Amino acid sequence: MKRKKMLVTGGSGFIGGNFVQYIVNKYPEYDIYNLDLLTYAGDLTKHKDIEVKDNYLFVKGDIADRESIMSLFEKEKFDFVVHFAAESHVDRSITDPGVFVQTNVVGTQTLLDASRHVGITKFVHVSTDEVYGELDFDPTTFFTENTPLQPNSPYSASKASSDFLVRAYHETYGLPVNITRCSNNYGPFHFPEKLIPLTISRVLNEEKVPVYGDGKNIRDWLHVIDHCSAIDLVLHKGQVGEVYNVGGHNEKTNLEVVKSIINILGKSENLIEFVEDRLGHDKRYAIDPTKLEQLGWEPTYKFETGIAQTIQWYIDNKDWWEQIISGEYKEYFDKQYNGKDQKIKH
Ligand code: NAD
Ligand code: DAU
Repeated sequence: MKRKKMLVTGGSGFIGGNFVQYIVNKYPEYDIYNLDLLTYAGDLTKHKDIEVKDNYLFVKGDIADRESIMSLFEKEKFDFVVHFAAESHVDRSITDPGVFVQTNVVGTQTLLDASRHVGITKFVHVSTDEVYGELDFDPTTFFTENTPLQPNSPYSASKASSDFLVRAYHETYGLPVNITRCSNNYGPFHFPEKLIPLTISRVLNEEKVPVYGDGKNIRDWLHVIDHCSAIDLVLHKGQVGEVYNVGGHNEKTNLEVVKSIINILGKSENLIEFVEDRLGHDKRYAIDPTKLEQLGWEPTYKFETGIAQTIQWYIDNKDWWEQIISGEYKEYFDKQYNGKDQKIKH
């Protein structure tokens, strides 16, 4: 039987990297191609163990480079595309929105064209709950798949634009697509610009942790492996053309998250430093995952266990994140935080 070929874009980043590991090991009968530009957020070291496997291949490339993408698709004739590659950090989108439009919108459209050209079996577009905008603090309200898209940051606007293109390619050309919209992920290989790995790495180094505004904004946290299993299910069982929300009902204020990390590590809450708020900071995200649960998905991680394991992973893998925070990241950090509060020093 002919082996199936799967293109994973952004497979050297946080979630795509965990997904590549998950899928390469779970489906030895598939050939997995990881297409990644290796921006600041991508690194190959995380795949050292699978590089030797016959069913894994890394391809360096830009999803928005039409010529290369078209020729890659013509050559490989992929069966599945699982699309993670994106600029993903909200703060960076506030400082420099242009690259978000180029990668997230133009890049997605390029992949859709190439997928249409060769006739794939399924295109899964990995999107985010941020496209729905924000909820207020009423704990009985949730994002459903029918919630109107009202993105508030340049990042979420670029993701919503790509969602609309994915939908349009299904409606207009019949491209077999699914869109997943997941809440905040955490787990191994999370880049230390995001709240949880930023907090873990800074607390381990006994450095101040910058909390935006009053720290009362709420995010709905899901372990990255539960996100991977959701995408696997949608890829194989999702009804073509449908959107699936992904989330495990783990709502926490940012302050609760930061305090729990500090407490697990046995450090002082004096490390918390309230700094100027993020512009347009969304108040609350919370996912209703009923539709995905009806497809057969359930999360396996409770936040309390997942966060403890994640902290242990950062303790055991200090080399990985120390190498990141000592490089060009330093410049990013100073620019991002020193304007807000001179006390937050690298
Ligand atoms: P990430 O920033 O850790 O990784 C992004 C990856 O994409 C990197 O490896 C980077 O090198 C690659 N990339 C960037 N531009 C590229 C380009 N032009 N061509 C090819 N590769 C390129 O991101 P992440 O947090 O792993 O998020 C992955 C996807 O999941 C994104 O689409 C994001 O919107 C979505 N998402 C993220 C979360 C979250 O909590 N992190 C939650 C829901 C959805
Ligand atoms: O909801 C899904 C989204 O989650 C994904 O689409 C994004 O790609 C991902 O980056 C994440 O976005 P957030 O903006 O929610 O994540 P971040 O880790 O940047 O921030 C989480 C919360 O913590 C948010 O309310 C802002 C706050 N925060 C963040 C940083 C970096 C702080 O208080 N201080 C900080 O230094």
